[in-house]
Amino acid sequence: MSTSKALLHGDGLLRALTETALEVQRARFLTELVTAAGQGLEKMGFELAVISMDEAGYWIRYLTPKPHLLALKAQVVPGDRQELGPEGEFRLVTADEEPVLLTSLHDALRAYHHLNGHEPVEALVQQVPNTCAVAPLHVRRSHWGALVLMHDELKEEDLAIIRLFALQLGSAIEVSEGFEQLERRRAELDLVHELAISGPRADSRALCRRALETVCRTSDSDAGMLHRFDVDSGDYVLVGDAFGYQGRLVDEYRRFRIDPENPLARSPLAVAAKDLPYGADLVRGEGLLHMAVVPLAIEGKPVGLLSLARTRDVPYGDHDIRSAEILGVQMASQLERARLYDEANRLYGDLKTSYDALARTQQELVRHERLAALGELAAVMAHEVRNPLGVIFNSLTTLKRLLRPTGDSEMLLNMVGEEADRLNRIVGDLLDFVRPYELVKKPMAVEPIIASAVDAAAQSTLHSSVRVLTEFPRELPAFPLDAHLLKQALVNLIVNAAQAMPRGGTVTVRATVEPVAGVPWLTVRVQDEGVGLTPRAAEKMFQPFFTTKATGTGLGLAVVKRIVDAHLGEVTARANPNGEGTTFTVRFPPTTETRSGALTPPRPSPAFRNG
Ligand SMILES: Nc1ncnc2c1ncn2[C@@H]1O[C@H](COP(=O)(O)OP(=O)(O)O)[C@@H](O)[C@H]1O
Ligand SMILES: [Mg+2]
Repeated sequence: MSTSKALLHGDGLLRALTETALEVQRARFLTELVTAAGQGLEKMGFELAVISMDEAGYWIRYLTPKPHLLALKAQVVPGDRQELGPEGEFRLVTADEEPVLLTSLHDALRAYHHLNGHEPVEALVQQVPNTCAVAPLHVRRSHWGALVLMHDELKEEDLAIIRLFALQLGSAIEVSEGFEQLERRRAELDLVHELAISGPRADSRALCRRALETVCRTSDSDAGMLHRFDVDSGDYVLVGDAFGYQGRLVDEYRRFRIDPENPLARSPLAVAAKDLPYGADLVRGEGLLHMAVVPLAIEGKPVGLLSLARTRDVPYGDHDIRSAEILGVQMASQLERARLYDEANRLYGDLKTSYDALARTQQELVRHERLAALGELAAVMAHEVRNPLGVIFNSLTTLKRLLRPTGDSEMLLNMVGEEADRLNRIVGDLLDFVRPYELVKKPMAVEPIIASAVDAAAQSTLHSSVRVLTEFPRELPAFPLDAHLLKQALVNLIVNAAQAMPRGGTVTVRATVEPVAGVPWLTVRVQDEGVGLTPRAAEKMFQPFFTTKATGTGLGLAVVKRIVDAHLGEVTARANPNGEGTTFTVRFPPTTETRSGALTPPRPSPAFRNG
């Protein structure tokens, strides 16, 4: 026997029900609304169920959460929804216009359980009130479901008041359904708006994920996936994460292909999971009962596929499909925009790289051009200067022999001699610099070349306070080199090193073989203890005519650079780790290839020059 609280009748019941009805009107969504109704009615001592029906079956929208009711329900209604049995099997849910009073609910319950092939637990049945009122609920003038109010003290005379309450509940449900539909439309519109205004730079994956959630929500789906159509491969590729799926299905459908002839590639499909043309087992394994598969296209071209699924036994309708199509196309076009944007960016990047390379080449060309002009000029000048210089030297020698000068005249004549010497040196350097090289690379022992460079440097400028040390590994292999040019480069480096140490010191020349990208290169380092490179010198020292010396020509390092370039090698300089002096490093690859040593580059075509 149930132990519910005493039930009000007449005015008392009317007042209590009216208050609950007011409470119910305030709720907006169906679930809120039936909960408000349920809790209000339970306060009056009722146990109750709110049940809705459609062609396919009935749903228990609300059931008083008492253990015996829940247990009884669980025995015959596994979810919230139950297919409708043979007509009249369940008298509780009725389409009658007027409420009815059942005075033997226990018998009805037993009968219902038997019909469904179960023996009800009698102890549970006994806890349910034996009397109930079943009041039909009407929404938009048609039968929507029923309110089942259970209480042992219910009487025939209460039915009129319960009928009024059911009418109010029906109209509240009508309002809430309208509201819910509006809410969905609003969410869909919001989404369309968001997708439409988001720029191509928006995080389109996050956006699509949100969009997918919204679509699932507004279409009452429990799971959803968005695939984009990859034009290159012809595959459908999962975008971001699937929503709501747990198991193997997602892995299985991360990327797949649909035969273009397959109707699925063209027209939407709303189908029960068991009738799916493919993957039915997988889908059912996820507990999904209904699916909507919607191909997305823009201007007739496939852009993606949106699939939605429900765990509840509610088939997808035309409206669901239409909404999915509209929202899906928006999502897919957002993805397409993002893809185009990335592509445009990539193309722009490529273009920019090519442009930069072109600009560099052009600069290089201009520089070569300038040097070439300079070279020609210098060669002519040097040649012109050489002859008068010869005359000066001859005349000087003759003058000295004839006059045997002393004192001031001797000093002045010597000065003319020294300056003429200097001029001669400049002209020599200049000719070295502008002379086109005929590089002859032959495998050469490196040690003798270095030794002869040290000798030559000593003869030209070294003063007694400068020492030159050489260091070699025990076995230095022969290397493909132009011995004459390598010697010239080393002389220039050693002379510079010595000149950087006006108060004397040590120049160390080390040769080794070091791997560059796995290939053994000959490496020669010329290290001094001198004044070090100024930042300006470090920047410009390889340019011809750059010098910081009173009597310098600024051509030594320019010649070194040309020789190293012609060998396809490289030259670098850096301050010594102890901060004193500089080390110049030249490296040569073990290749017999060379680069043209001519100073004059091939002339660009006139069209290019004028353009
Ligand atoms: N070992 C070095 N230490 C410091 N500065 C150097 C060294 N080698 C070259 N430089 C700088 O680079 C400049 C250019 O050198 P270079 O081309 O040989 O011309 P030059 O020796 O006639 O000045 C020098 O004037 C000097 O400023
Ligand atoms: Mg020099």
